[in-house]
Amino acid sequence: MPTPVDIAPARGTLGVMLVGLGAVSTTTIAGVLAVRKGIAKPIGSLTQMGTVRLGKRTEARSPKISDVVPLSTLDDLVFGGWDIFEDDCYAAARTAGVIEPALLEQVRPDLEKIRPWPAVFDKHYVKRLDGPNVKKGKNKKDLAEQVVDDIRRFKADNRLDRLVMVWCGSTEIFMTETPAHQTIENFERALEANDPSIPSSMVYAYAAIREGIPYANAAPNLTADIPALVALAARTKTPLAGKDLKTGQTLIKTIIAPGLKARLLGVEGWYSTNILGNRDGEVLDDPESFKTKEESKKSVLDYILQPQLYPDLYAHLCHVVRINYYPPRGDNKEGWDNIDLVGWLGYPMQLKINFLCRDSILAAPIVLDVALFLDLAKRANMSGIQEWLSFYFKSPVHAPTVYPEHDLFIQLMKLKNTLRFLKGEELITHLGREYYD
Ligand SMILES: NC(=O)c1ccc[n+]([C@@H]2O[C@H](COP(=O)([O-])OP(=O)(O)OC[C@H]3O[C@@H](n4cnc5c(N)ncnc54)[C@H](O)[C@@H]3O)[C@@H](O)[C@H]2O)c1
Repeated sequence: MPTPVDIAPARGTLGVMLVGLGAVSTTTIAGVLAVRKGIAKPIGSLTQMGTVRLGKRTEARSPKISDVVPLSTLDDLVFGGWDIFEDDCYAAARTAGVIEPALLEQVRPDLEKIRPWPAVFDKHYVKRLDGPNVKKGKNKKDLAEQVVDDIRRFKADNRLDRLVMVWCGSTEIFMTETPAHQTIENFERALEANDPSIPSSMVYAYAAIREGIPYANAAPNLTADIPALVALAARTKTPLAGKDLKTGQTLIKTIIAPGLKARLLGVEGWYSTNILGNRDGEVLDDPESFKTKEESKKSVLDYILQPQLYPDLYAHLCHVVRINYYPPRGDNKEGWDNIDLVGWLGYPMQLKINFLCRDSILAAPIVLDVALFLDLAKRANMSGIQEWLSFYFKSPVHAPTVYPEHDLFIQLMKLKNTLRFLKGEELITHLGREYYD
């Protein structure tokens, strides 16, 4: 039997700091409050409802994940966060319009207590937004120190034992790595010099990682996935996860594509389009923010279908992704996929998917799970990129030596095997010969 990993207990309170108190964040917070009160169920959350099979199928051991590894309970969570708007969490949830007013009223007093701290924000990185609740500082280093002050104050005021941070802010413009991102020294010099290659999201990420606070990116923009911040995370023993929550159309894509590939059905074309009317949709209406999202959404099929291994099936795949801002739908996204398939002897077929989903309802359980699992990783001394959390992301961060794993089912196996590994249980290979010998 393997030895279990030494994991510090989940004693005391966990502060969950969310950057951006918009639709995703307020749906997460209001949801946790509602579940705590027993008036709703945490559907979609592995940490709250998931089980993990241990041992052989004949042993009939499938405990809840929360009974296998020590996780903070929902009662232990305290939320805080930053936003460029001054609305408290109740007002922000009303604006987001995801959760119905009757349910929000029942958690209103607790939501109203959460008021956003002034944000680090520069319109250059999110063109369609502007708001009054913004920090002033002499340079980006100074702004990072102000974020550290917010973090320390939040911890002291609420007597918190541990913290995690998740970027749930708007999608920033598309950026690629520059020399400023290569080493910790370059990065810190660039902060002092107000280097434009450091967007607001990186200022928060730097502050969290320097403090040894686990950090995840729920959006597709470049933040902690640069060599300088990965090196800083190694130094401060900080777990990292990201990026871009896998919800909606991409979730379905990573469910369907592995199935088509498993049966070696060819794909000639995959056209995805959707309409979305929330603030995220408005931000993504800007071509520079959309490019960040598009890159994140498009790479998925290449990695799953592996055209280099199956040129006859996937080499000429035409993959198109569109997002259309359409205010009447609010957070209720509607996505259409048309998949042009090829079967035996080259005969064409078509598959159409019409998904009427709720974006933030799919995102909230992910934010919760990622926060709880990152805190677990920290207590288990697992620092740096947590590839086992790829399950939750459209563009999973990964070691430079490997390609990212996008297949949802491989990702789930990786996640559950990590839990078994932590617990000192046998990993499950699904070979199963022993039942027949
Ligand atoms: N909803 C989903 O299913 C989903 C899926 C994947 C990724 N995402 C990403 O998650 C992020 C949040 O989505 P949302 O639907 O909540 O969007 P939203 O527009 O409702 O909320 C984002 C919030 O971030 C704030 N913000 C922007 N820049 C900030 C900064 N520098 N500091 C502090 N606050 C800042 C905005 O004012 C806004 O309130 C987006 O980047 C989105 O692309 C969402």
